[in-house]
Amino acid sequence: MKRPQAQVAVLQAADAQEDRRIDDVAAEADLKPEAATRAAFELEADGLVSVSEETLEHYELTDEGDRYVRESLPEQDLYEAAIDAGAADGPVQMGQVIGASGLEGGAVDIALSNYARKAYGSIDSGEITANQDADPGSDPEMLALEAVADRRVDDADTDALDQLERRGLLDVREETVRSVQLTDDGVTALMEGVEAAETVDQLTPEMLTSGEWEDVAFTEYNVEADAEDVSHGKEHILRQTANRVKDTLVGMGFSEMEGPHADAQFWINDCLFMPQDHPARTHWDQFALAEPEEIGHLPPDLVERVRSAHKEGVGPDGEGYHSPWTEDIARGMDLRGHTTSLSMRYLSGHQVGELDPPERYFSVEKVYRNDTLDPTHLLEFFQIEGWVMAEELSVRDLMGTFTEFYEQFGITDLEFKPHYNPYTEPSFELFGTHPETGEVVEVGNSGIFRDEVLTPLGVDCDVMAWGLSLERLLMLMYGFEDIRDVHGTLCDLELLRETEVIR
Ligand code: PHE
Repeated sequence: MKRPQAQVAVLQAADAQEDRRIDDVAAEADLKPEAATRAAFELEADGLVSVSEETLEHYELTDEGDRYVRESLPEQDLYEAAIDAGAADGPVQMGQVIGASGLEGGAVDIALSNYARKAYGSIDSGEITANQDADPGSDPEMLALEAVADRRVDDADTDALDQLERRGLLDVREETVRSVQLTDDGVTALMEGVEAAETVDQLTPEMLTSGEWEDVAFTEYNVEADAEDVSHGKEHILRQTANRVKDTLVGMGFSEMEGPHADAQFWINDCLFMPQDHPARTHWDQFALAEPEEIGHLPPDLVERVRSAHKEGVGPDGEGYHSPWTEDIARGMDLRGHTTSLSMRYLSGHQVGELDPPERYFSVEKVYRNDTLDPTHLLEFFQIEGWVMAEELSVRDLMGTFTEFYEQFGITDLEFKPHYNPYTEPSFELFGTHPETGEVVEVGNSGIFRDEVLTPLGVDCDVMAWGLSLERLLMLMYGFEDIRDVHGTLCDLELLRETEVIR
């Protein structure tokens, strides 16, 4: 049988009776450990060797652990000073004992907490006692420290080792060690004779210029072989999914909206028929800007129509709020709490000119809310905004659009719940089922804009609209439970690294 040189070397170095470490095999076969590992996996795939794996733990003292093993543990010093001060016979002033112990700075706290934990004595309202029966001389943590320092880890107590790691006195590093052993087939192959085939595993410029590449046999790649994980930079799954959402909506005939993150309350709230004394318009919910305090320009005729909708309502039977409405409030600047502000700008005709139905627009952009941080809420998140303008629209169109959209992301169990929004009637919240917890999670809010919104904007056909959470969509797709797994400093790096890219 002919085999690549590295495989032959590994076969010959491996043993049928016992596992041999790949590192040892590599040294004997004069191969790099990676090359020997690769060859071993190739041989394993053909049943000629078996590869086993074992995780070894290496213990190493930290600088602090090293200092203690050469001197003593702070709690041992404290005990000694306490005994000298007579604390075995009754409580003694703590200050006096600490002074005598020579402990300083952070070491004092370390000594006190471990002293109490190990029941060397008790500490109460500034006084310390020492337990006569305690035996700091054979402190298990000190013994374990010494065992690690002397490379006798096997002698050390495992609880004590854990405790030392928690105290930061010990670093534990895990190493995966692989071993090979010849199988029966491997033994047979060796007996029948294995020869090294001249194979080339790297194409060089010289081989290309000389033409030698035409005559050589190249090593086969085993793309299924285990390889070391390399974590490299990659597109964040939130960004990936945002781009997928955009592609999906463009595929469904939508165009993208753009607009300011900080905007006038007029576009964020007033156009949406949200009364100026609505609770969601207070600083409890939204972030106001000090600078600039107000927007430079608002279209005067639109302002007038919105004001009149708020005061008197629209149409012959219209009812307004009859509550105060001032342009000053409408001009105030906020970070947008939803991207429905963009929908208002576009529907008003002030962003891209007058629109002719049918029209479809979307955005996937950040919004900002003064929420309380918890596993499903952040102060900023991405909203998938969208609307469809057409002559006749019904709730079925809305449901159909969502069903089609979410299907693209593997979500087929949408549920709808009637809801209230000041700007849509009817309104629906959307829910999906979390793949891990089975909980029903709200993923979005939607509805058909009411006349009080559309008439001032000058739109005289139907418009259905929605705001969906990108992060919640991600939760349903990937099964994580905390929004902070994908945002901010606490994010789950493993999730971000290992989530497959889907296109
Ligand atoms: N603005 C709503 C929200 O942020 C979403 C929405 C947009 C609902 C458009 C209806 C129509 O929850």
